[in-house]
Amino acid sequence: MKCLAAFVLLVLAAVVSAEQVSYRNYKVYATQTTSREQQSQLKRWEDLEGVDFWDRAGKRVMVHPRLQQKFELFLKAHNISNQLIIQDVDATIEAERKYDREYRQSRIGSGRHTISFDHFWTLDEIYAYLDELAVDYPSLVTVEIVGQTHEGRDIKAITISTSNGQVSGTKPVIFIDGGIHAREWAAIMSVVYLIHELAEHSDQYADMLINEWVIVPAANPDGYEFSRTSNRMWRKNRFPPTILCTGVDLNRNWNYQWASSSNACSDTFPGSAAHSERETQALVGLMNRYSANLKLYLAVHTYGNLILYPFGYAWPSVPVSNAADHIAMGAKAAAAVSAVGGPSYTVGNSADVLYTASGASDDYAAGAAGFTYSFTLELTGGGNQGFDLPASQIAAVAGQTFEIFRSMANDI
Ligand code: ARG
Ligand code: ZN
Repeated sequence: MKCLAAFVLLVLAAVVSAEQVSYRNYKVYATQTTSREQQSQLKRWEDLEGVDFWDRAGKRVMVHPRLQQKFELFLKAHNISNQLIIQDVDATIEAERKYDREYRQSRIGSGRHTISFDHFWTLDEIYAYLDELAVDYPSLVTVEIVGQTHEGRDIKAITISTSNGQVSGTKPVIFIDGGIHAREWAAIMSVVYLIHELAEHSDQYADMLINEWVIVPAANPDGYEFSRTSNRMWRKNRFPPTILCTGVDLNRNWNYQWASSSNACSDTFPGSAAHSERETQALVGLMNRYSANLKLYLAVHTYGNLILYPFGYAWPSVPVSNAADHIAMGAKAAAAVSAVGGPSYTVGNSADVLYTASGASDDYAAGAAGFTYSFTLELTGGGNQGFDLPASQIAAVAGQTFEIFRSMANDI
């Protein structure tokens, strides 16, 4: 009897935990490495179960509570100075969920949903909004389904162009994707905000609309939904390459310097082959269609306050041939953010400033797709909370990011 009760409890616990992955008592450390030696020591923790490098080469590391002691001893042994900046990652996530629940509660029955940048939209809300824009602004906006995910969700693209919402073939195309990484919610919202401004206040942005905009605001729909409903820290898509591990890192899956890996459980697993993933295929197909006019590519990620240019597949880094133009363009965009009171962005080659990563979208855009300019933006994070930008700060970050878009659009 006792045994049965224990079994029922166990099953119950499993069911409950299947609902939302818990980050109860997960720790986050800020680390400061001062030598390549320390960096490579730290890097050895990278693909371990229960360790998650949140940003550049282990600046912030989230660790499972069972690894706390071991990790602290390691840091001490290698003289890596550090601070424990989060005691319980789950508390942050729970606060975010509570805000969202209450926000939605308070608006039940308030009629047509109004456009507001004080909460994170679900995928359905984003798509409903795009479809609404296509109906409301037919001479400026078209929306199309450019692919379907493994779990059957649509991948939607919006084109904003004064030529009846079409790519005319006579103007520069700016191509933007958000949310290639599932947990980087503020990136998605910043791209949605750009769409909102361009479509609904087009009279104010004649300068930007000299170009034609092709935008995929949620490039990893399955991953985004999964990060909302099941695991806030999910990064990859939801394709299962093996029975044991799920997910391909869509920013390692592109066919430029793609590198294979046998570790399907890694958070940066590049897939079984370049362009193996439907999400990548959808974006590549769209790029191919407009190949004659591709001017500027922007991959929008969080976080780090970085404007990164290619190539990032190797270190010592291999700069794009027009690196100087990228640097100048990035510096202007960074200045535009400062001018509106935003944080200071660092402009640099991604392998120099961040870390090497092969098969990334920005490298493909510059090296294979034919874009003149290509950047990865790492937007502002939620202070110590990293990916969990408080909803109250979405509008500010989106507004600052808009200045980057505007500055670059005016610069090309
Ligand atoms: N945070 C991004 C990632 O890990 C950076 C990619 C930068 N690009 C590169 N080619 N290294 O995917
Ligand atoms: Zn990312």
